Amino acid sequence: MLIPEDLQCLKAIALMGNARGPVWVSSQVLGGTLGASPQTASRRLQSLERQHCIARTAKPDGQYITITKEGEEELRREYAEYRRIFERGSPRYRLTGHVVTGLGEGRYYMGLPPYRQQFLEHLGFEPYPGTLNLRLDAQSIRVRRELDRHEWVPIAGFVADGRTFGSAKCLPCRIADIPCGIVVPGRTHYPEDVIEVVSPIELRPRLGLADMDQVTVEISDD
Ligand code: CDP
Repeated sequence: MLIPEDLQCLKAIALMGNARGPVWVSSQVLGGTLGASPQTASRRLQSLERQHCIARTAKPDGQYITITKEGEEELRREYAEYRRIFERGSPRYRLTGHVVTGLGEGRYYMGLPPYRQQFLEHLGFEPYPGTLNLRLDAQSIRVRRELDRHEWVPIAGFVADGRTFGSAKCLPCRIADIPCGIVVPGRTHYPEDVIEVVSPIELRPRLGLADMDQVTVEISDD
C-alpha cells in the first residue's frame, strides 16, 4: 500500500499520460500539479520508483515515466474503492420472511472447522455457530426460485471420524447492512419456503429478533 502522497503523485502521472506508455514529466510541472515544490515532487518520484510503481528513463529533453503493472494495480485498487462508495447498486433481490426456530442443527454444523474455514474464505467471515431460519412469504418464495439461477459459492463436503458431511451452496447477502450468507444444504429435499442465514454475529440479540419477527434479506450483484 502506498502512502497517500505517493498515490496522489501516481494518479497525477497517470492523468498526464492516460496510464499508457512513457510520459514526459518534469518535477517542476508535477510539483505544480501536486501543489508542492519541485524537490518534493522529485522525492515522490524516487519513492514510487523504489516501490516499483514507476520506471524512469532519462532523455536529453528530460525524464520519461512509465507506470508499471504494480503501479497500475495500486491505482485500480483505489478505483475499486471509489466504485464501492459511489456505485453500490440498490440490492438486486429482496427476500422477506419471519424468524422460525429450527431443529438446532445449525449450531452443530456451523461449528465444524472445515465448514467454518470455507465460509471464512468465501464470505470473508467466520460464521457465528448457528443459522437464523426464516420462513419466506409467498412473493419471496418466487424470488428465491429465481435466485437458483444466480451464481452460488460451492461449499465442499468432507469426511471426519468416518462420517460424511454433505456439500452445500452459499450466497452472500445482507440483513440490515450486516454481511450474511444464505446457506442451502446439498441434499435434494429441502423445503423451498425456508432459508438459513449465517453471519459473523448472533443476529437475534443484535437485531432484537424473536420467532415470528419479520426480516428482510438483500442480495446485490457485486
Ligand atoms: O435452533 P435452530 O435450528 O433455529 O438454530 P441454530 O442454527 O442451532 O442456531 C442457534 C440459535 O442462534 C438460533 O436461535 C438461531 O436463530 C440463532 N442465530 C442467530 O441469532 N444469529 C446467527 N447468525 C445464527 C443463529
